[in-house]
Amino acid sequence: MKIYIKTYGCQMNERDSEACAGMLVEKGHSIVDSEEEADVLIFNTCSVRELAERKAIGKIGIMKKLKKLNPDLIIGVMGCMAQNLGEALLKKLPHVDFLIGTGQLHKLPDILESIAAERHQAALLEESPEVLTGMATHFYGRENPLFAYIAITRGCNRYCSYCIVPYVRGREISRDIPDVVQEVKKLVDSGVREIMLLGQNVAAFGLNGDTNPPPEGVSPFADLLHELNKIEGLKRIRFTSPYPSYFNDKLIDAIATLPKVCHNLHLPLQSGSNRILKKMNRQYTAEQYLTIVNKLKSRIPDMTFSTDVIVGFPDETEEDFNATRNLMNIVDYDNAFIFKYSPREGTPAAKMADQVPLEIKEKRNEILLKDLAVRSERQNRELIGSTQEVLIEGPSKRNPKRWSGRASNAKMVIFTPEPSMQIGGLAKIKIHRATKASLFGDITD
Ligand code: 5AD
Ligand code: SF4
Repeated sequence: MKIYIKTYGCQMNERDSEACAGMLVEKGHSIVDSEEEADVLIFNTCSVRELAERKAIGKIGIMKKLKKLNPDLIIGVMGCMAQNLGEALLKKLPHVDFLIGTGQLHKLPDILESIAAERHQAALLEESPEVLTGMATHFYGRENPLFAYIAITRGCNRYCSYCIVPYVRGREISRDIPDVVQEVKKLVDSGVREIMLLGQNVAAFGLNGDTNPPPEGVSPFADLLHELNKIEGLKRIRFTSPYPSYFNDKLIDAIATLPKVCHNLHLPLQSGSNRILKKMNRQYTAEQYLTIVNKLKSRIPDMTFSTDVIVGFPDETEEDFNATRNLMNIVDYDNAFIFKYSPREGTPAAKMADQVPLEIKEKRNEILLKDLAVRSERQNRELIGSTQEVLIEGPSKRNPKRWSGRASNAKMVIFTPEPSMQIGGLAKIKIHRATKASLFGDITD
């Protein structure tokens, strides 16, 4: 069958879509780029904010037209929204043939096979550990053969008061170290040089669902980084996202000393106000967060930081917002995903008093975006004169005479290639010009 997959939401969803496409291709199906030529449409959905759900529902709604033209068309919904809304989604969108939850994706090929005979299936059930190992090795159509996403944990045990993820993605489950190492070795054999480890809280890797951060000296995630660092041919390791309280000295030490671990950290802050952090059920204070950042900065001076922040959480005052704004300036993030709080039914925050009006959320969002633009322009300018190690990706999209690659700190670097240069290799580039988006430089010997 010809299958079209549309993905919404986070990198975990992108990885899931890629793994599902890989499994389907292995079974003899093909992946197509347009809805019109497909026999099967699959929508991989997100529930984190209401807007994400609305977008997907709108899009799937429009697909009714295609189904009228082609009654044999099969439409499926996977991912968080399928899990979250379940049968209610089938009632709202009766032209959808099946739903598959986040823990059962490895069953997609079987479900598709049986669907032609029997429609309206739901396979939600519990998060199954098989989904981690069963889908580990399936890859399809990665945009860049040098990079791969690796899912190492799924689910979340943290229950931040605004977040729907623990309810839809279920309890945290982890793979074991040899399983991840084996997958990465296979990928490296096929040309991958940089990996991004994924999980709702990657730093909870290997803690077997313990709901508390690990004590000093214990970090199975750091152990994993040590093992991955040993893999010959692998050049770089990135990960997203770790929960701040899981940073102990063992993990900080691993990040600071392992040469393949990149000098860029996505560390979700959510708010810089202790009052709001408490209401969010985040288990750290602004001061504790800053201590982690400062320890990392003192060990790794060229480290860059990015974050997730929510504006307009219930009862967020100007003072709370300014605390967030200040902390963002102190950490000096070079990138941030700023979210306007979106109440999610079933979460404690949705029922809290003093919901913040949309205009205020928008104003605060704009202020933080402006701060971010000012900071990143200055930061890029400050990198003029520095030397950056770049993973060579090949000709740049805009100007193929120039090549591009990413520095360890995640900045895009554009440079003039030399004949000896190899895609997938590392090169040292001296930066002589910077814009908001990129750094420009030449090779140093
Ligand atoms: N409203 C707004 N942002 C949210 N996030 C999670 N839940 C919500 C919500 N209800 C954001 C958090 C998280 C990121 C993935 O999405 O900042 O880190
Ligand atoms: Fe949601 Fe908090 Fe878990 Fe992140 S750590 S997925 S924000 S509950």
